Amino acid sequence: MSKDVNIDWSKLTFDYIKTDYRYLSIWKDGQWDDGKLAEDNMLTISEASTALHYGQQCFEGLKAYRTKDGKIQLFRPNRNAARMNDSNAKLLMPEIPEEKFIDACMQVVRANEHFVPPYGTGATLYLRPFMIGVGNNIGVKPASEYIFSVFCMPVGPYFKGGLAPCNFIISDYDRAAPQGTGGQKVGGNYAASMQPHKIAAEKGFTDCIYLDPATHTKIEEVGAANFFGITKDNKFITPISPSILPSITKYSLIDIAKDYLNLEVLERDVLADNLSEFKEAGACGTAAVITPIGGISYKDELHVFHSETEVGPIVKELYRILCGIQFGDVEAPEGWIYKV
Ligand SMILES: Cc1ncc(COP(=O)(O)O)c(C=O)c1O
Repeated sequence: MSKDVNIDWSKLTFDYIKTDYRYLSIWKDGQWDDGKLAEDNMLTISEASTALHYGQQCFEGLKAYRTKDGKIQLFRPNRNAARMNDSNAKLLMPEIPEEKFIDACMQVVRANEHFVPPYGTGATLYLRPFMIGVGNNIGVKPASEYIFSVFCMPVGPYFKGGLAPCNFIISDYDRAAPQGTGGQKVGGNYAASMQPHKIAAEKGFTDCIYLDPATHTKIEEVGAANFFGITKDNKFITPISPSILPSITKYSLIDIAKDYLNLEVLERDVLADNLSEFKEAGACGTAAVITPIGGISYKDELHVFHSETEVGPIVKELYRILCGIQFGDVEAPEGWIYKV
């Protein structure tokens, strides 16, 4: 590490910290420029930018991990590039080439290397790629110019303290429409989630769970994370729907469940009325990692899975293998790890 930064790695939360460099590239006249690193964390854009008025923007989230030998690695950044391009296509924004996306992430990590937390602290460097429609454009139509940027910050756990069970409540509200943008990582979904989150937090829950927006009977998302459950006969079950964001962590857990733990995996409906089919449950995502679900409140009753205080054995094992792969302690499937 070239420079010292004054950070207590063990006390990090999931909050913004300004780091030294961010990457910026401009799309104009039908093409991307070469992109560059910048020290200034302020953007100056037209007041008529589509990102500001019509939500023409999308983002991604991934992490850089410090391994035991002091090196740094990214976890499946190609999947974030692909998902960003799915969001771009949905919102009529330009494609970002995968090589450019990954190169931008690499440049940002290298330039901010001293902000990558040491191995063993559990903390990581969170990368936030995003794209916004900019320029003078007050009509509801795609922008003529775009900014693609990646910034980063060291982070600790998203939900309270590491691998500890959390309770969630099923919301009456929706974050996305049945055939809308729920499957893409676009800001509007998150704007719609702030009030339901606040209501859940005021009732003492970590976050809310969204049901499918068409029938309100099936579990979709756990706040900003995907749901999975382990049935009494040891099957790994996770819901499938066009309004669920396809979590890269979830698809990684599907492979881990099959290939490392020999579990049967099924993507299928999860009925909120049938939670008793599961002996363990979890929420998974880049920020949430795996957050064991202690209980889910539905129709004024708290359904407890394994325990409200103890982590179940299969969730614990999934967590050990996932984090082991991400921090370089467990051998990864081919193509998952990108050395910085
Ligand atoms: C709504 C939502 N669901 C699920 C996830 C988890 O996705 P991933 O594992 O790719 O981080 C996220 C976070 O990115 C999210 O915002």
